[in-house]
Amino acid sequence: MKKFYVTTPIYYVNDEPHIGHTYTTVIADVISRHHRLLGIPTFFLTGTDEHGAKIETAAKKANLEPKQYCDIIAEKFKHEWQSLKIEYTNFIRTTDNYHEKTVQKILQKMYENGDIYKSYYEGLYCIQCERFISEDELVDGVCPDHGIKPVLHKEENYFFKLSKYKDIIFEKIQSDELQILPETRKNEILGKLQLKIEDVSISRKQLRWGIPLPFDQEQTTYVWIDALINYLSGIDYFHFRDENITEYSFDTAEFWPCDLHIIGKDILWFHAVVWPAMLLSVGLDLPKKILAHGFFTVEGKKMSKTLGNVIRPKELVKIFGVDGTRSLVLSMFPLGTDGDFSLSELKERYNVTFADNYGNLVNRTFVMALKYFKESFEIQPISYSVKEQLNTVVENYKTCFENLELHKIVDTAVELSSFANRYIQEQTPWVLAKENKLQQLKQVLSDLFYCIKATALLLYPIMPEKISTLLKCFVSEETLQQEYTNLLFNNEVNIKHVVLKPVEILFPKIK
Ligand code: MSP
Repeated sequence: MKKFYVTTPIYYVNDEPHIGHTYTTVIADVISRHHRLLGIPTFFLTGTDEHGAKIETAAKKANLEPKQYCDIIAEKFKHEWQSLKIEYTNFIRTTDNYHEKTVQKILQKMYENGDIYKSYYEGLYCIQCERFISEDELVDGVCPDHGIKPVLHKEENYFFKLSKYKDIIFEKIQSDELQILPETRKNEILGKLQLKIEDVSISRKQLRWGIPLPFDQEQTTYVWIDALINYLSGIDYFHFRDENITEYSFDTAEFWPCDLHIIGKDILWFHAVVWPAMLLSVGLDLPKKILAHGFFTVEGKKMSKTLGNVIRPKELVKIFGVDGTRSLVLSMFPLGTDGDFSLSELKERYNVTFADNYGNLVNRTFVMALKYFKESFEIQPISYSVKEQLNTVVENYKTCFENLELHKIVDTAVELSSFANRYIQEQTPWVLAKENKLQQLKQVLSDLFYCIKATALLLYPIMPEKISTLLKCFVSEETLQQEYTNLLFNNEVNIKHVVLKPVEILFPKIK
C-alpha cells in the first residue's frame, strides 16, 4: 500500500518558535495535507529536542528543573502549531519515555554490532551548536553561527564508526537511492564524503541531562544521536507505546522508511551522513529523500536574539492571519536557496496575490451573481477555453509538488484566478445582463465559479482556514478529499449549485 511519511527536525527548546521553525513546519504541513487529500495514509512528525548542555543551561537561567522548563517550551511549540493549523500526526518530545527506550535499543544494537568503541576526544566545542567545531571553521576565534567562543573539551567518550559507512553512503547518495535536494547540497555532501571523515563521539561524560547509554550508565547520549532517533520513535517503530497514535488501522512502524526529511541546510551532514550510517549499522532502510532548505536573513541581517530581530510567527499572524502567514512563508523564496525576509515585500505579495487577484475575483463574482440572479441559478457545464486553462494550471500545480517547488504553488494556483479576472473583462457580464442575454450570462458566471472553486481546492492545503469557509458556498455531492483527487487526477471540478449570499471580503487589503 502506498504511504507517506514526512518529518521536520525536532526543535531545540532553548528558544520559542521563530520564523525559521515555522518555515520548515509549514512546508511539511502543506506536503502532508496534499498527500492526505489524495487519500494516501500520511504520517507527519514534528516535535522538540530537549536534552543536552544547551537546554540544561537555558533551564538554569530560567530557574527551573530541565524537565519543567522543557514542558513549558514544548507546550508553546504545540500551541503555536495549533494556531497555525499545523496538523501533525505526532509531536515527539525527546524526554518521552518511548523515545528514550528507542534510543537505548538502537544504541545497544549498534554496540552489539561492533560499531561503537571507547576513546579520548579533545577539541573545541560550541555549546550552541552542540558539536565539536574545528579550528578552521572559526571566524575570528568564534563560532560563525553563534558568535561565541568554543570551549576546549576533553573526555573519554564512546565513538561510532562513521568512517566504516562512508563509501556505501557515498554510493547511495550518488545514485539517488538516498536523494538529496537541491542538487547543490547533494554535491556538497558528496564532496565532503570524499575527504577523510572522523568517527563521531556519541556520548558525554559530564552531562547529566541526557539519556544514559544502555551499556554504560556513567555516560549520557550525545544530543544529536538522541535527536536523530526521533524519526523512529516518532512512529513508535519498536511498539513501546500502548496507545494507537494514528487513525490508521495498520501498524505505524510500517511508515518506515521515511519518504521525506525536511531540514535546514545547517543540519544536512547529520541527516545525510550520520543518520544513514546509524541506520545501516542496525540494518534498517535509509530515508528516501532529504530536502535541505536555505536560511533567511531579516532585512539583510542574520536573524539572532542578540540583534533583537527574531521574527515570531505570532507577529505575522497578527498582520496576515493564519492563512496569509502560511502562504507567504511558503512562497518567500525558492526552496533550497537563501533568502531575505522583508515585511514590506510580504505585504506587497499578499495584496497582489490575494486582495487584488483572488479575493477580488471572489468578491466580484458573488456580487454579480447576486445582483443578476438573486438566490440561485442553474450552473452550466464548464466552457472549453476555461477547461483548457484549468488543465494547464492543474498540471503545473502537480509538477510543483512532484519537484518540491513549493514556493511556486500559490502563484500557480492563482494563475487560474488571474485568467478568470481577464475572462470577466473579455466577457463583460454587465453588458450581457443589460442586453438580457441570460443564457450567456449564466455560462460566464458558471465558468467563474468553476475557476473560484478549483483555485480554492488548489489553495486548500496551504490556506485551510479561509478556504474551508469559501468552499461551504459550493454544494457538491463529493467529500473534500474526493474533490481534490478528482481535480488533480481528472482535471474535474464539480458544482451542484452555489449558495448565493453576500460574502465577506475574503482578503482585505493590508496597509
Ligand atoms: N534540534 C536540532 C535538529 C534535530 S533534528 C533530528 C536543531 N534544532 S533548531 O531548533 O536549532 O533548528 C531547527 C530548524 O530550524 C533547522 O532545520 C534550521 O535549519 C531551521 N532554522 C533555524 N534558523 C533558521 C533561519 N534563519 N532560516 C531558515 N531556517 C532556519 O537544529
